[in-house]
Amino acid sequence: MVEWQESLSIGMLEVDIQHKLLFEKFNAFLAACEAETEADGIYRLFWFLEAYAITHFNEEEKLMQRVGFPDYLKHREKHLAFAGEIAKLKEQLKHEGPTHTLVSTMTMFISGWLVNHISSMDRAIARFVA
Ligand SMILES: [Fe+2]
Repeated sequence: MVEWQESLSIGMLEVDIQHKLLFEKFNAFLAACEAETEADGIYRLFWFLEAYAITHFNEEEKLMQRVGFPDYLKHREKHLAFAGEIAKLKEQLKHEGPTHTLVSTMTMFISGWLVNHISSMDRAIARFVA
């Protein structure tokens, strides 16, 4: 499990809630892998995580544009790069199935990216707004 911690709060309620949901969705996927749920159920949870990540990025990008955040383009590029990696992992999951190695790789990449991105780039939005 990848726990959301209070230290990841950027102090903007809507964004914080969306970040918590991302962790929850990823954990639901991990729990299904651990429980050896049938492959379809596991894929569905990963698809759902991907779809929600994209929805969340769109929301954040709209917010950045609304407030005139200066690093909008750079920030958006990071979102696109992450979405690209997720799409690749999804293909890998489809072909290899939820092997132990793949699920560990996903966990390290996704939780590491989220923690880094939230604590630096997303925090910068909150600082700008404040
Ligand atoms: Fe972001």
